[in-house]
Amino acid sequence: MKREYVYRAFERFWHWMQAMLILFLGITGFEIHGSIRFFGYDQAVRYHNTAAISFLVLIVFAIFWHFTTGEWRQYLPTWKNLRAQAEYYVFGIFRNAPHPTKKTVLSKLNPLQKLVYAGLKALVIPVMVISGLLYMFYRYPHRYEVLGLNVGGLEVIAVVHTIGAFLLVSFFVAHLYLITTGHTVTSNLKAMITGYEELPEESDEKKSSVEANEPVLTK
Ligand code: HEM
Repeated sequence: MKREYVYRAFERFWHWMQAMLILFLGITGFEIHGSIRFFGYDQAVRYHNTAAISFLVLIVFAIFWHFTTGEWRQYLPTWKNLRAQAEYYVFGIFRNAPHPTKKTVLSKLNPLQKLVYAGLKALVIPVMVISGLLYMFYRYPHRYEVLGLNVGGLEVIAVVHTIGAFLLVSFFVAHLYLITTGHTVTSNLKAMITGYEELPEESDEKKSSVEANEPVLTK
């Protein structure tokens, strides 16, 4: 095993900010929805709006970072080893089987992570942002009156936004479990805090029968 620098400073900052914001948006959002009571409705709305704006700012910086570093390629979904990875989580993990794919600095996401994260970035988060902004501005003050965007009613927006919130909460719970499934129970968590992780050395990888993920970046 070799200690490698896997997650850079901005990547870790972005990851933890995103985690906190989504958690906070989830708590305040489900208070607005009426499922929980914590801050009180009015305060929950104010907090939700402020967190949403912070999330939008973070997203702009994250998009810039992903494209300028080329890291967006990490998320390109692949069929290769997808089934093996899914079978590992359903069966192998409970039988102490080895991980079917290997994490490397150039390919740090397994095929299932690529698929799920790409879905979040390309679908769920954009849907949350668009429905959230429509929710915020479906009525907007014009000079002498309040106008409505022609979006076919608030109900559709609210339902779409709430379905997205349920998907994000489900992802959050699954993510907490999957954090513990690295080489050791805490290795993934430590890596996202310090940036460093123990990864198999090149020579070990070649000797091993376990297939490595295809490196996707050329740095
Ligand atoms: C940039 C992203 C987001 C924006 C702009 C946004 C905006 C909004 C707005 C304006 C409302 C309505 C508040 C009111 O009734 O006055 C709302 C409700 C809500 N939001 Fe968000 N939100 C965003 C992200 C999220 C995220 C990430 C979650 C969950 C993790 C979430 C969960 C909810 C929920 C559950 C509701 C209540 C829906 C209902 O019952 O109608 N939101 N959001």
